[in-house]
Amino acid sequence: MTNTIILGTGSYLPKKVMTNDDWAKLVDTSDEWISTRSGIKERHFAAENEACSDLVVEAAKIAIADAGIDKDDIDLIIVGTVSADNAYPSTGNWTQKKLGIKAIPSFDISAGCSSFLYGMIMANSFIKSGLARHVLVAGAEIMSRIINWEDRNTCVLFGDGAGAVVFGASETEPGILSTYWGADGNLGDLLIQPAGGSAIPASEESVAKKLHSVHMKGNEVYKHAVLRMQEAAMKAIELANISSDDIDLYIPHQANIRIIDATIKRAGIPPEKTFINIDKIANISGGTIPIALDQARKQGRLKKGDNLLMSAFGAGFTWAGTVIKM
Ligand code: UT7
Repeated sequence: MTNTIILGTGSYLPKKVMTNDDWAKLVDTSDEWISTRSGIKERHFAAENEACSDLVVEAAKIAIADAGIDKDDIDLIIVGTVSADNAYPSTGNWTQKKLGIKAIPSFDISAGCSSFLYGMIMANSFIKSGLARHVLVAGAEIMSRIINWEDRNTCVLFGDGAGAVVFGASETEPGILSTYWGADGNLGDLLIQPAGGSAIPASEESVAKKLHSVHMKGNEVYKHAVLRMQEAAMKAIELANISSDDIDLYIPHQANIRIIDATIKRAGIPPEKTFINIDKIANISGGTIPIALDQARKQGRLKKGDNLLMSAFGAGFTWAGTVIKM
């Protein structure tokens, strides 16, 4: 039986740091409001000459070195993002080009903040089926390019960055113990970038109405996020045939500290076993989980044999949960 294991991780955060006080100079907000309502203190923003694939490439180089493999051992690239370089080609294609990797399949998936876990679940399927042995899965965003810089309801919540993981095949280690995912397109309008696709192509009107940026009904999204994050975490634990006591570290999607607090309370996971970095990097949508995973590993919070739980919720709506034995 072939199982999927983590061979290496990497992450990249652009140099520029934007604090809550910086936002307070641009919109009617305050450090007090942002940190109390969301847990966010600061976020990184990409430089003008950086595109999403540039962030992926930086994270991927670190992950490939960490995995101790040659880049040409990678036989599939999956990038999860809602802020791709272009409508097409995919950011996965650009990543392949910029890394100088031979002509292997590469593509993007769009599953909002669940994109990385969706990619991980797909990598697991490809590896288990024998279609691939080394899969590079990245989650990356330049949210600063798709927020409405005048809308205080949304602009203060997001950040830029990338995380990448090299998944490999093992015949001896258990690796991924469970995967759980779902989506409900009926609620798509609650968190949406309305224009730029075939439904509302770019026009003077679409630009004037700021339809090319994130539109979110925060309160509504919040309610679903709490329920689905809990569901994804608890289902992943159940499907792994373990209990919440067996979880050594939980990496939740970092959209709001209050969503995380409600999730761990319900799922029975103590705060000290929960990885939090929302204060430093805000919500990086698809990039959040792989960045946190890399940071957790490099901070020594994960050791061999640990049970790692991850769960996410995002636009779509989409949600996903996994347990992996490190
Ligand atoms: O990434 C996955 C998907 N995303 C999420 O899961 C995010 C889910 N939603 C949330 O995290 C929260 O709903 C927010 C952090 C977005 C907002 O927190 P909230 O407690 O739900 O606030 P609210 O939207 O109910 O707004 C409360 C008040 C409003 O004023 P009035 O109408 O009560 O006078 C807003 O206009 O806060 C106001 N407000 C702000 N005030 C200062 C909204 N944004 C700001 C701001 N600064 N940046």
